[in-house]
Amino acid sequence: MKHQKQNSGNERPERSATAVAHANIALIKYWGKRSLSRNLPAVGSISMTVDSLKTETEVSFEDTLEQDHFELNGKKVKGPARERVSSFLDLIRPTERETYAEVVSTNNFPTGAGLASSASGFAALTLAASRAAGQHLKKKDLSRVARQGSGSAARSVYGGLVEMKRGATPDGKGDYAETLADEDYWDLRLVVVLTAEDGKEVGSTQGMIHTAETSPFYSKWIDEQPADLEAMRQAIVQKNFEKLGELTERSCFKMHGLMMAAQPSLLYWNPTTVMVVQKVRELRSQGIPAYITMDAGPQVKILCLPAWIDNIKQALSTINSIKKLWICKPGPAAEIISREKEKA
Ligand code: DP6
Repeated sequence: MKHQKQNSGNERPERSATAVAHANIALIKYWGKRSLSRNLPAVGSISMTVDSLKTETEVSFEDTLEQDHFELNGKKVKGPARERVSSFLDLIRPTERETYAEVVSTNNFPTGAGLASSASGFAALTLAASRAAGQHLKKKDLSRVARQGSGSAARSVYGGLVEMKRGATPDGKGDYAETLADEDYWDLRLVVVLTAEDGKEVGSTQGMIHTAETSPFYSKWIDEQPADLEAMRQAIVQKNFEKLGELTERSCFKMHGLMMAAQPSLLYWNPTTVMVVQKVRELRSQGIPAYITMDAGPQVKILCLPAWIDNIKQALSTINSIKKLWICKPGPAAEIISREKEKA
């Protein structure tokens, strides 16, 4: 992380803040938009924030800069990715005059491979940038702003189990996330299985547009989502793990079914993805309650309870093409890291 510059004479102080946000994995998926310009979701969604995958971002607004600078994992970012950050910062910049920012960000996991890096990335950026701009936003408002960077980022503002609401108005007032249960409520595990390290071929935004335009199942997906969300809320209130798992797996396959039925078809999986899915089915037939979910990439996430982690690890050890595993617990909300804490 960058160090604060010395401030001499009557120069204005550098306005800087550092935030950390964790990725989240959707149990009931978000796929589809009702407005592209405001990034309003066509459906609500429910997710679990995870402790092991995180982004740390420092934002400094500096009067001397002539444009925004964005560094990710030690490398300067240019082109569309920098533009995306820059136009997002337009929502937050100190308004008294045009001020550009130095953004330094680190992910502790592969970027853009279907591991929710845009969720933790935009949540950390929203919190750090708004604080650096002197704003102390309520979580609901942070979530609304983060949503405009990436829909799933609205959920990473909170820890534990989180619901993103689909609002009813075109201004996006009702489109924000809320906490359903904090990270201590239920001792769940998500085993994140990395099957490929490369970036994804079709990003979520493009994939959603393509699916909405060409998939014959899209309207059915939209119609059924409220019932899936309600069933998931019930499963969480009742701590019914089997129900939680079944609903999670079903929402995942519904979303991938939509994608596969698009024209041309969108298929995010690789052979290892399918091997992991089969392995989890095998485990279930042996009485081990484990359920899968997958996003816009080839990685598989396995939902389970702590008691079964060893069995699952053992079963996965037979698949040589798996690159890496993370055993994740429910993770915390996004937070500002103070410089004292950073040094400790
Ligand atoms: C498959 O939040 O990445 O992970 O709003 O266009 O940035 P944009 O999309 P994004 O989509 C996430 C899609 C998903 C499912 C989910 O996280 O709910």
